[in-house]
Amino acid sequence: MSAPPELPEIVTRAFDVSRRAGYVSFCRNETGRLLATLAATRDGTMAEFGTGCGVGTAWLRSGVRRDSARIVTAELDPRLAKFAGEIFDEDPQVEVLAVDWASLRDRGPFSLLFLDADMPGDITVDNIVELIEEGGIVVLDDLLPCEQWPPLSYGRVDTLREHWLTDERFTAVEVMVAPETTVLIATRR
Ligand SMILES: C[S@@+](CC[C@H](N)C(=O)[O-])C[C@H]1O[C@@H](n2cnc3c(N)ncnc32)[C@H](O)[C@@H]1O
Repeated sequence: MSAPPELPEIVTRAFDVSRRAGYVSFCRNETGRLLATLAATRDGTMAEFGTGCGVGTAWLRSGVRRDSARIVTAELDPRLAKFAGEIFDEDPQVEVLAVDWASLRDRGPFSLLFLDADMPGDITVDNIVELIEEGGIVVLDDLLPCEQWPPLSYGRVDTLREHWLTDERFTAVEVMVAPETTVLIATRR
C-alpha cells in the first residue's frame, strides 16, 4: 500500500501553528482535501465561518488557482484569529478576521462558504441562502454518517441536515469522506 499524498506546504504550516497554540479542533485531512478540490473550481470570494487555527483555511488556500480569488475567514476567539493570521501574514488572497461570522454578511455573496463555527442554530438554510451566489457552494462538515431517512444524529432527527438536503434553493449531497464522518455539499441553484 502506498502512503497518502503529502500535505500541501501551507497546511503543514497551519498544523505547526495549531501545535504552538495548543489547538486541536481542526478539520480532518479528508475534509481538507475536499475543500481544496472545491476551492480549485472557484473564483470570487470564498468564506469560512469559524477559522480555528487556520487549518481549514489553509486547505482552501491550497486549492485556489486564480489570482483573483479571495478567502475571508471569521474567528470569534481573538487569540486563535491571531495565530491563524500568522499563517497568511504575507498572503494578499487571505484575510483572517477576529469577528463574529455574522459581521461578514455584507462581504458576500460567496462563491464557497465553509460553515464550521459550531453553531447549528444559526446555520439554517434561511439564514445562509442570501450569502451564496448562484452556483456557489456551501460545505458543512463533521456529520455522522446515516443511511436512514430522515437522517438521525445521536438518536434524533437531524432537522438541520434534512433541511439542507431538501431545500429547493440548493442541490445537495452528503459525501462520506471517512468511515465515521460525512460532509454535506450544497450548491445554490
Ligand atoms: C471546529 S472549529 C473551526 C475549525 C477550522 N474551520 C478548521 O477547519 O480547522 C470552530 C471555531 O468556530 C469558532 N466560532 C464559534 N462561534 C463563532 C462565531 N459566531 N463567529 C466566528 N467564529 C466562531 C470557535 O471559536 C472555533 O474556533
